Amino acid sequence: MAQTDVDSRNAQFWDELCGSGLARSLGITENTPESLQKFDHAYMGMYPYLQPYVTDEDLAGRKVMEIGLGYGTLGQLIASRGCLYHGLDIAPGPVAMMRYRLEFLGQDLGDRIRQGSALEIPWPDASFDCVYSIGCLHHTGNLPRAVAEVHRVLVPGGKAIVMLYHRHSLRQVIQIPVRYVRDRLSGRRRFASFGEAARAYYDTNAQGEAAPHTDVVSRAQVRQSLFRQFSRVRIDSQNFDTYVLLRGRIVIPRERFLNNLARVLGTDLNIVATK
Ligand SMILES: C[S@@+](CC[C@H](N)C(=O)[O-])C[C@H]1O[C@@H](n2cnc3c(N)ncnc32)[C@H](O)[C@@H]1O
Repeated sequence: MAQTDVDSRNAQFWDELCGSGLARSLGITENTPESLQKFDHAYMGMYPYLQPYVTDEDLAGRKVMEIGLGYGTLGQLIASRGCLYHGLDIAPGPVAMMRYRLEFLGQDLGDRIRQGSALEIPWPDASFDCVYSIGCLHHTGNLPRAVAEVHRVLVPGGKAIVMLYHRHSLRQVIQIPVRYVRDRLSGRRRFASFGEAARAYYDTNAQGEAAPHTDVVSRAQVRQSLFRQFSRVRIDSQNFDTYVLLRGRIVIPRERFLNNLARVLGTDLNIVATK
């Protein structure tokens, strides 16, 4: 697919805010401050390991950018840490949501929340002390370029905090192939190819369609190739969606695996890289 096609399909697909399924499951139908608080509580409950990536950083007075805004939970947390928050997303929906949220924080936004691509970050070199991007760059269609762009806009010594999907996760190695074979054997062929079925395992919209593009990466690829330009790289495997059922009841919830199996075979790699 040509890059312009990936970009326009991403802008359309992600206009439905990432997290809309969670919002629906919570009965959220409009975005009042109370319902966003309810959403954020549920989001942080699902991904509790994300919070320290924000609260352990000294962000006060720093210039910080987030790429890939979604429903805005993390962005609001970052912006509330006393930094000069900037946001970038290819789709209009997440941009509007972040503006809406930050207006409640009483922030004078100017043009700090922009619609645009991670592949051409619309800020000059060395603009930011810190760049956050959780679950976004692997959707761009050109991951090496997206990481190079993050490197470009960081000041020397600046930090990138990036989540990418893990190639050697339980999800990749077992769950996706098993589900695909099971669907084929039972005559349910919902997706045209294995690749599309794999993408749908990660991200679907309300119609059940898969995200337009998704890459997965290994730790070695992160260190030796994608983040090679950075002086220091730390990688944490996190997130898990497996639980144990007995007679239709969850006897071991996914949360019990977050501090053990997920640290090895987790769905996501959270990368902290210093320029
Ligand atoms: C899976 S969502 C993640 C949202 C949020 N960070 C979270 O963790 O909930 C991916 C986000 O990346 C954005 N995105 C996809 N491709 C992009 C691109 N080329 N440039 C900027 N943002 C992009 C989407 O619009 C979407 O908001």
